[in-house]
Amino acid sequence: MLKHSHLIDITEYSPEEIYEILDTAKSFSEVNSRSIKKLPTLRGRTVINLFLEPSTRTRTSFEIAGKRLSADVINFSASSSSTKKGESLADTAETLAAMNCDICIVRSKMEGAPWLLTRHMNSHIINGGDGCHQHPTQALLDAYTIREQFGGFEGLKVGIVGDVAHSRVAGSLVPLLKMLGAEPVVIGPATLMPSCPDLLGANHSYLLDDVLPDLDVVYMLRIQMERLEGQPLPSLREYSMLYGIDMKRLGMMKPDAIIMHPGPINRGVELSAEAADSPRAKILDQVNAGVAVRMAAMYLLLGGESDGITA
Ligand code: CP
Repeated sequence: MLKHSHLIDITEYSPEEIYEILDTAKSFSEVNSRSIKKLPTLRGRTVINLFLEPSTRTRTSFEIAGKRLSADVINFSASSSSTKKGESLADTAETLAAMNCDICIVRSKMEGAPWLLTRHMNSHIINGGDGCHQHPTQALLDAYTIREQFGGFEGLKVGIVGDVAHSRVAGSLVPLLKMLGAEPVVIGPATLMPSCPDLLGANHSYLLDDVLPDLDVVYMLRIQMERLEGQPLPSLREYSMLYGIDMKRLGMMKPDAIIMHPGPINRGVELSAEAADSPRAKILDQVNAGVAVRMAAMYLLLGGESDGITA
């Protein structure tokens, strides 16, 4: 049903294909609320979760998604594999390919790692996050969550706040939102912005308080300490004072505006505990959507059969 063999870069997908994934995810979300959460759709298929960087949400939700569709799911982590002994990604990929898997989800700190895998494996490759480049299933689950809250995207003002320069979440979410008719604006200190923020295709601002009252969605990015070099921030305390959402800033937001965050949260930095736990925060709705969206992505990449959603 999709024109693509892989899901690596969201900008390769058309709005029609995005809506097909979101609509299919909506059908699968019904399965996820049943007491018996299992379909035979991918019985006999093998899914490999190749996670070379830490993950809780993405790895677990792909595993649950595969298992709910009756696939055999194998988890592969850097710390317990032969990559620890120096085996290259290409050799790892060819080794896994020799075992005839159908889908490989890869997370790597190396931008372009999913493309490399397409040259060494016959499987469908899904990008579970590559360096500072893209995280397409995160953007899809975010779009799913926004659609559930607002019914659509046209004209919605979505502020994406924080470490834009290092964020693969922003790398996928900004183009996806633009494709669907929303108006993304990236917000953060100059030291955490790309050198040419306009190239992202979104408006930008360095002052959260100037734009906060106009936003429908306040999407807080994680400060990625593991990717920061030098001293881009005087201190996390100062960052939080200027860009964190606390109850005071929550009070500046539109009455129906929502807070989102891809997780994991640095509590007290991007969000105060009260803001993170407030009803305006849809962070666990995002996690919940992640399972259905990943079921849909795997199902559609494997050709999506008409009786596979409801059987
Ligand atoms: N949002 C996200 O990618 O979270 P994990 O790193 O826990 O997978």
